[in-house]
Amino acid sequence: MCGIVGYIGTKKASPILINGLLKLEYRGYDSAGISTIEKYGVSNLKNKGRVANLYDLEGINDLEGTVGIAHTRWATHGKPSKENSHPHLDNSNTFAVVHNGIIENYSDLRKFLSDNGYIFLSQTDTEVIPNLIHYYFSKDTNNDNKKFLRAVNSACKDLKGSFAIEVISKLYPDVMIVARKDSPLVIGTTETENYISSDIPAILSFTKNFYLLNDNEFVEVYKDKVVFYDNDLSIINKPIKNIDWDASAAEKDGYEDFMLKEIYEQPNTVRETIGSRIKKGEKCAFDDLELSKEYLSSINKIYIVACGTAMHAGLASKKTFEELTNIPVEVDIASEFRYRNPLINSKTLVIFISQSGETADTIAALKLSRSKGAKTIAVSNVIGSSITREADYTIYTHAGPEIAVASTKAYTSQVVLLDILAIHFAEILGSYDTKLLENLKNDILELPTKIDKVLENIDIVKDLANKVYTEKDMYFLGRGIDYTVALEASLKLKEISYIHSDAYAAGELKHGPIALIENGVTVIGILTDKNLVEKSISNIQEVITRGAKTFIISNQDVNNKNFDYVLNIPDTNAFISPILSIIPLQLFAYYISKNKGLDVDKPRNLAKSVTVE
Ligand code: F6R
Repeated sequence: MCGIVGYIGTKKASPILINGLLKLEYRGYDSAGISTIEKYGVSNLKNKGRVANLYDLEGINDLEGTVGIAHTRWATHGKPSKENSHPHLDNSNTFAVVHNGIIENYSDLRKFLSDNGYIFLSQTDTEVIPNLIHYYFSKDTNNDNKKFLRAVNSACKDLKGSFAIEVISKLYPDVMIVARKDSPLVIGTTETENYISSDIPAILSFTKNFYLLNDNEFVEVYKDKVVFYDNDLSIINKPIKNIDWDASAAEKDGYEDFMLKEIYEQPNTVRETIGSRIKKGEKCAFDDLELSKEYLSSINKIYIVACGTAMHAGLASKKTFEELTNIPVEVDIASEFRYRNPLINSKTLVIFISQSGETADTIAALKLSRSKGAKTIAVSNVIGSSITREADYTIYTHAGPEIAVASTKAYTSQVVLLDILAIHFAEILGSYDTKLLENLKNDILELPTKIDKVLENIDIVKDLANKVYTEKDMYFLGRGIDYTVALEASLKLKEISYIHSDAYAAGELKHGPIALIENGVTVIGILTDKNLVEKSISNIQEVITRGAKTFIISNQDVNNKNFDYVLNIPDTNAFISPILSIIPLQLFAYYISKNKGLDVDKPRNLAKSVTVE
């Protein structure tokens, strides 16, 4: 869970690298470093702390090299420190490496290298890589121009685990070698310069032409050409992919934080997700899916598997799939699913949701499902990401780059996309009243305008955040689909405000959790499902009686019920209400975090892309 950047071209590399790292800081931010090829050899400047601290390192302004690699770290092996920061060099200072991923067999490799006279200066798993490269390089008696590539390839064949690496060498000042396995890496290309990065947004301002690496591919990157090899070092052809994201989408555009910008982007991002999938009077269209009526009639279970917020999006769409298609749906956490021997066969359809498309547990669960004969659909936001390459089918959310660690716009896009997918299935199966489906589609088309309305009316949210930000615990309650929103709202609050919070199904309260309610505690109720509102109101009355202060988000008339704060949101179809009801709660978490003076976009201990299990 680190970010890596590389540059090879005609300009000074260091400012480009630092700028790229700043855009990747959401992937990790406890230490950073940079190596360039200078006249004297390979430079290596690094320290613990944020990327911006690199500007203060002695010698940073003296770097002249036009080839370089850089890294922002989220510590796994070894605490954040200068020694543990990347880049790591081999003992002879010939090779410098940055690495994202985890080398699972690093202690064996370390022992092997120590037995061969290598000394280690850090506690990291990564430091074995440059030394292994040196080991193979020095053993190779063939001095042709592929010697560097061969050494990297041999070293990588010894690695167990995941890696995306960039390697430079003082002996080969015109080339950089990069490779990946189970960790993301892309190359942005132009005629005279090449940019390497863990993800697209960090280098989107330089080019829209990208090569997307697959696992076990090795690349020689020169300033004016890129040569791809497979694991056996045979040359392969790799097409360029044009990524038509707007570069400004990866900038803050005048907002104080990416998270705020991304919350306010939601009318547009939901519109993009709907795209041409719903057209008035026509059946839903998914260009990339080919699921026949025969196939859909044959499946007896849909699993939706994901982590964190993406899993909550799955929960929010379970009701839609079940009611519209009559197929039972189970939503599972990827890290649980992959180890619990789930009952899967060719009659199971498994849908995986991942904003980044790189979440290690989700990818592993996907591979497991395929191995057991299930059909798989990936729902992702990142074009060409790992999950999209593993699944039988991919559908994209098209929400644009999400930079803030806390997911907001990806969630609403995931929910709307899954709901449209459920309609699509129902239309193929003929399993639901067509008039009701038409109404639901019309309601979905109205969502962007309704999200705008929610965003215009958030004074209560700001005011309340201002009053409660010093509290230690908060509780979120809801029933049915509102409970799924409570789970997501609670996650949002804890991850960026560090306030302890929990979400409960409102009816479950008196089976234990109500013991936690005491005078003055804040309870947030989500009341949007007409059929369940009265029930939830009764549960909330129970907490009021015990002294709780209440904040209610509702699209029903719930005024005059003794609630302290009520925020009315536009009414909509119950299936899609999470897309509106979550928005004030994303803002609630955001303003509490701001009031506490915290770093909203980069909360402590968290990284955007969880590429380790
Ligand atoms: C929370 C959050 C995480 C992610 C989770 C899965 O705000 O962002 O819970 O949802 O790590 O990430 P993806 O969707 O990239 O697989």
